[in-house]
Amino acid sequence: MSNNDTGGKCPVMHGATSTGNRSVMSWWPEGLNLDILHQHDRKTNPLGDDFNYREEVKNLDFGAIKKDLHALMTDSQDWWPADWGHYGGLMIRMAWHSAGTYRLADGRGGGGTGNQRFAPISSWPDNVSVDKARRLLWPIKKKYGNKISWADLIILAGTVAYESMGLPSYGFSFGREDIWHPEKDIYWGSEKEWLAPSDERYEDVDKPETMENPLAAVQMGLIYVNPEGVNGKPDPLKTGEQIRVTFARMAMDDEETAALTAGGHTVGKCHGNGDAGALGAVPEAADVEDQGMGWSNPNSDGKASSAVSSGIEGAWTSHPTQFDMGYFDLLFGYEWELKKSPAGAWQWEPINMEEEVKPVDASDPSIRRNPIMTDADMAMKMDRSTGPSVRSSWPIPNTSGTPSLVAGSS
Ligand code: HEM
Repeated sequence: MSNNDTGGKCPVMHGATSTGNRSVMSWWPEGLNLDILHQHDRKTNPLGDDFNYREEVKNLDFGAIKKDLHALMTDSQDWWPADWGHYGGLMIRMAWHSAGTYRLADGRGGGGTGNQRFAPISSWPDNVSVDKARRLLWPIKKKYGNKISWADLIILAGTVAYESMGLPSYGFSFGREDIWHPEKDIYWGSEKEWLAPSDERYEDVDKPETMENPLAAVQMGLIYVNPEGVNGKPDPLKTGEQIRVTFARMAMDDEETAALTAGGHTVGKCHGNGDAGALGAVPEAADVEDQGMGWSNPNSDGKASSAVSSGIEGAWTSHPTQFDMGYFDLLFGYEWELKKSPAGAWQWEPINMEEEVKPVDASDPSIRRNPIMTDADMAMKMDRSTGPSVRSSWPIPNTSGTPSLVAGSS
């Protein structure tokens, strides 16, 4: 039924704009918006006035939850089979995307509140399939209840994922308190379309520092930069300049940026083995039978090697479920050329890579696939101020000898 029908009308208002009503602020846009003072009203918090998360989390059996999370990485394969049988990559992407919305200029976003559970972030185009990662965590959340917040659990899952793939961790700080409804007052940009070209938020898109403040992502619905290049046009050096500014606005310098991105892309893969345009509605717009999840894939089972998220397809390293030097070995050890993924996205693929160096298919270990680099990964190689210095400070010893650098790479 349309919202304009009169008889038997649904009493719930489905959004002020669709009913034709104008908000007070839209009549008097210069007025002082005090909504921020009313956010996270106690009435929406199911935990009650007496609940004290910092006290509650002290009762968490840390050893037990860690054990359960370790098991989850390779169990639970029935409903949403993992790439190579390991959820590590997916969990780390979820954790990073939860932290990666943070920006310095106004201190908003970030992994401190579990806001990834709510719109708009839950339905950002950059968060395709992160809904599945949170659903995989649900049995653990249910088991430990209020002793762990969603915000802590999301970050802990990423941390344990790394541990289970061989990266030692040096501790974990709890204490992120959940919010219980969408944050309506955060300014994510003025565009009215997801992934609208960058131009609107820059005075001059060729000068990354002219991006509107407090924003720290180049397009609406992205966490940071476009993986295919500035406005989808591959050019690693230009992408590198945008990375430098977006990550600086997330409080990271060059070395931290390169270490984090290289560390992220040492595991897991990109998903683009199909038509990204055919994916179903985002979680916020999906039908009720989708039970809070979105991006259903009508053309295939949409799992492991047939999954579609970013549209880019392939892993970065030879052993994507192990934390090793593979990312740097391949990035610096080979030359790369531009190709299109099966979903039509730009990606970089190696020239003349030996068959045995290539990673195996995420579902079928008898097939080997080309690894890939996004335009942002190529920036780590081609931007002279990041690659070599970060590589030498990597915490894991080089497992396969130092690869010779290709011409023009450093
Ligand atoms: C320079 C900025 C970055 C860009 C443009 C970028 C882009 C991407 C893209 C396109 C994917 C594929 C998503 C999919 O199709 O499923 C991906 C996956 C991933 N990213 Fe990044 N990323 C960046 C930085 C980071 C950082 C800082 C981390 C930190 C941990 C990270 C961790 C991951 C992981 C673990 C995956 C694998 C997900 C999986 O296996 O399902 N990325 N990234």
